[in-house]
Amino acid sequence: MRELEELLEYHSRKYYIDNAPEISDFEFDALLRELQELEAHYPEDADPNSPTKRVGSDLSSSFESVAHRFPMQSLANTYSSEELGEWIDRIVRELGEVEFVAELKFDGTAISLTYENGALLRAVTRGDGQRGDDVTANVRTIGSVPLKLRGEGYPQFFEIRGEIYMPYASFDRLNAEREAQGEPLLANPRNAAAGTLKQQSSQVVAHRGLDCTLYHLAGEGLPADNHYANLMAARAWGFKVSDHIRICRSRQEIEAFITYWDTERKRLPYATDGIVIKVNSYANQRTLGSTAKAPRWAVAYKFQAERALTRLISVDFQVGRTGAITPVANLEPVQLAGTVVKRASVHNADQIAALDIRLGDMVYVEKGGEIIPKITGVELSERPADSRPFEYITHCPECGSELVRYEGEAKHYCPNEAECPPQIIGRIEHFVKRKAMNIEGLGGETIELLWEAGMLHDIADIYSLDPIQLATLPRLGEKSAANIMEGIRQSLAVPFERVLFAIGIRFVGETTAKYLASHFHTLDAIASATTEELAEAEEVGAKIAVAITEYFSDELNRVIIERLRRAGLRFEAEQKRVVSNALQGKNVVISGKFSGRSRDDMKALVEEHGGKNLAAVSANVDFIVAGENMGPAKLQKAEKLGIKILSEEEFMALIADGDNTEPAPQAEKTAEAQSEPTKHNNMPIQGSLF
Ligand code: IVH
Repeated sequence: MRELEELLEYHSRKYYIDNAPEISDFEFDALLRELQELEAHYPEDADPNSPTKRVGSDLSSSFESVAHRFPMQSLANTYSSEELGEWIDRIVRELGEVEFVAELKFDGTAISLTYENGALLRAVTRGDGQRGDDVTANVRTIGSVPLKLRGEGYPQFFEIRGEIYMPYASFDRLNAEREAQGEPLLANPRNAAAGTLKQQSSQVVAHRGLDCTLYHLAGEGLPADNHYANLMAARAWGFKVSDHIRICRSRQEIEAFITYWDTERKRLPYATDGIVIKVNSYANQRTLGSTAKAPRWAVAYKFQAERALTRLISVDFQVGRTGAITPVANLEPVQLAGTVVKRASVHNADQIAALDIRLGDMVYVEKGGEIIPKITGVELSERPADSRPFEYITHCPECGSELVRYEGEAKHYCPNEAECPPQIIGRIEHFVKRKAMNIEGLGGETIELLWEAGMLHDIADIYSLDPIQLATLPRLGEKSAANIMEGIRQSLAVPFERVLFAIGIRFVGETTAKYLASHFHTLDAIASATTEELAEAEEVGAKIAVAITEYFSDELNRVIIERLRRAGLRFEAEQKRVVSNALQGKNVVISGKFSGRSRDDMKALVEEHGGKNLAAVSANVDFIVAGENMGPAKLQKAEKLGIKILSEEEFMALIADGDNTEPAPQAEKTAEAQSEPTKHNNMPIQGSLF
């Protein structure tokens, strides 16, 4: 039994802490079952910290309140780098040059673990700082918490503190399960972690995928007299200690760490809400002491909150150019990541129902991609007693048509494409925008003005606008009118792929338009292709193919297309530059990073030499040009299929052989590109430092 316990602990550590499993889940489960069976036969020999305890039990437990041996203090925090600077200066004034340790502030729930003779004795929540709840049975199920320590040098009895949190992957999976079961979604990973830890059944906890990183040791007989060295020792004993910890010797170094992580943290698989800065030496920590609430030797610099709690006042419904209805929440103004937020998106009816968002609720608002904040959850504890489930609209708020839902789509649509004003205006706005026809001077307001004046009903009307009539419109004048006319004239030179994007076929974005243009070459070919033929083009799936077919089978659209053709828009792709036919008939995958060229440049070379770029490795691929960091999965697949892999140099040699028409420019380009420092080398602070 002892041998199995050790073996299972070893493989748990490899899996949960080192991220380097050595055996399959299946083999692991088999070992676990063997130990479970032995424990069932010989219960008196079973270890209370046996790895079998990690699966949890379905016995419900209430939590015993336990006094902390050392109070669990909180941290002083600040959002301002000025205040942080003052804190640093004060300490340096008092103690002279000191070492600081900067680390991530994990956004979860604090835990204190006690180990006796190298075995987990107890896990206690912070509670009120003096006493907390004994949640040992639940914490045992967390794979990254060592049940027994390895190595040597740990005190016979000590405490280690850290954060229990729910990685985004576990959080998303949990919410997906809740959504499937019609349960309200959890607002954020922190609430989810705290809630999970207090679950009555440790079996439930075991399934939720919590994680635990440790950041503070307490007790007598620790191996070193400083924080950093002890954390490193704790790592050697089997604890999960963050890799992103750094000794800093100046305010500049601390600020550099903060600046780096303020953006880089968004790529971490778990939530962080700041940086904790600690004085490294314990002697210095003792000199600085504590206030009643928090140690003076540590401070948390908090990142601008990216989430805020505020009241939902009402919901407006916007109608987009495709008729898609977007609900927009009106909120009580709230400060969020440096701006005041009054409106937020809530996506669609399903989302409102899944989160059970109701008018009057206190809702969590987050800045996702940093631009339009979105509602991510409801604080149920603050729900007004008289609230009622939200009723989604059934008719278009602009034209009154009954809304429809297309199969497989979450959004509602107003089907009145021809007459619903925001759809008409939205289509024209889309048509003129920079990435489409780029008609300067024709902004949203002017379009609305022209629409109201009855001069614009559809995108083709743009090409029959009369400059004299234009100039008579309020706020326009001759100069603006002339500008618009010039913009319209120049738009005739816009390449076909952008025209294809501009006409606004549902689901045909910029990229799809490019693929379509290069596959079919002309608008007529696209218009006369069958849905099946359309779906054969790269990046065009069944859904897009159907949308294209529908677009061209609409009589109104066909008339508009004819009018645009007469106006002189480009309906044909330009001839591709052909340098050689060295790669004629070859399917090529470009993968990884290249020294002298971007990936797009490499792909352009493939086409210029008659080859075709494919995105995925399959049996159709003739060869792969592999740069640095080609994905291991791709490599494996290529090897399995026996596909040839060329280096950048080999590829250049290959096309140079067949390059009988125009060798010089390429060679020049190479030399030029290589003489420039790569972007990577230019970066001021990079991963290697932290
Ligand atoms: S040190 C006595 N380090 O933030 C010092 N705390 O707002 C103990 N936290 O109570 C705390 N990451 O729950 C420390 N790297 C880190 C942390 C961290 C997250 C939490 C912890 C603490 C709270 C204070």
